[in-house]
Amino acid sequence: MPQHERTSGSWIELSTSALKRNISYLSKRIGADSTFVSVIKGNAYGHGIEDYVPLAERCGVRSFATSDAAEAERACRVKRPDTKLMIMNMIDNADLGWALEEGIGWYVFDFDRLQASIDIARRTGRKAEIHIEAETGFNRTGFRAPEMSRVIDLCRRNMDVLDLIGVCTHFAGAESIANFYRIQQQRAVFQRVREQWITEGLRPRYFHAASSAAALTYPDTVMDLVRYGIAQYGFWPSNETRIYNMLNSDTQFTKDPLTQVLTWKSRVIATQQVQTGEYVGYGTSFMAQHPMTIAVIPVGYYHGYSRNLSNLGHVLIRGHKAPVIGMVNMNIITVDITGIPTAATGNEVVLIGRQGRHRITVSSFSDLANSVNYEMLIRLPFELPRVIVP
Ligand SMILES: Cc1ncc(COP(=O)(O)O)c(C=O)c1O
Repeated sequence: MPQHERTSGSWIELSTSALKRNISYLSKRIGADSTFVSVIKGNAYGHGIEDYVPLAERCGVRSFATSDAAEAERACRVKRPDTKLMIMNMIDNADLGWALEEGIGWYVFDFDRLQASIDIARRTGRKAEIHIEAETGFNRTGFRAPEMSRVIDLCRRNMDVLDLIGVCTHFAGAESIANFYRIQQQRAVFQRVREQWITEGLRPRYFHAASSAAALTYPDTVMDLVRYGIAQYGFWPSNETRIYNMLNSDTQFTKDPLTQVLTWKSRVIATQQVQTGEYVGYGTSFMAQHPMTIAVIPVGYYHGYSRNLSNLGHVLIRGHKAPVIGMVNMNIITVDITGIPTAATGNEVVLIGRQGRHRITVSSFSDLANSVNYEMLIRLPFELPRVIVP
């Protein structure tokens, strides 16, 4: 039992063996010529940056990507000195000096940041490690095709202070076949960008475009580096991606090669006998149809256990599934343990993960709660203790 469990009511376990397996599988999929970058935005997809980074390092990862400078700063406090970091999105120009000092790379997607990167590098005498982002059809951030000649020209004139680490882009939803045509268009646009840089004689260390779904669906998007987010944590980006890989003759499998790294656990804090006709919890959403035993668990929507799971979710106790009954409260859920006579106060409860023969997956959970894996994971509170298990 983790040290803080008494105050927080639940905790998250991170499995070292699951992560090792995922990283090994995902690394093989991209080959030795492509660099594995672990995306740890959104508090490492809810896994907890401070615990996840050293764990992933122990599994061999040496490059991480965050969304913003605040996350990069947290990763910096726990990472090995030789581990690389890049910021894919938000950094104020005022923080570029700090990033430079820490050896952190950053995306450049407008002329203001490009000029600020050059200026800070000149002022400090250290090369700025930049990734030039190309806008290829996502319509989020990046330089558009007509701007690229000016970008190349500015970079060329300042190569004495720039370390051109990457030229990159991001796809608009490679996890869905519905976006197939759009992804093809983006690939073609990025291919032209790539050729332009090479023709102009400026080759970055890495051309990169793929996240999990692109790498696992369109092998030719892998290039020199893959920014793996969701898949490293043991989740397919979508059911479509999983089925495509399961059935494709090059990648087919019967046993899922990805294993969920995270298990969310709590404990039964009380049990109650309820008589026929009595309501359970707030309001009248659940009335006992027969004499029941219920268990009380100190987790609620405050902790990311969605209210939509009221009268719908399940947890695992003593290797059995126990349905959530009544409304999910802010800090409490109640579950039916009538069919689990050995269940008692103090028993371990699995909210997400495996216990005995049963499993509660984030995807089943998030389908019920009508949200996607990503959102469900990221809602797991920052302050829940993370415990590394073998
Ligand atoms: C720029 C960028 N690269 C990579 C990723 C990782 O994506 P995924 O979690 O689907 O692997 C993200 C996340 O959305 C992203 O924004």
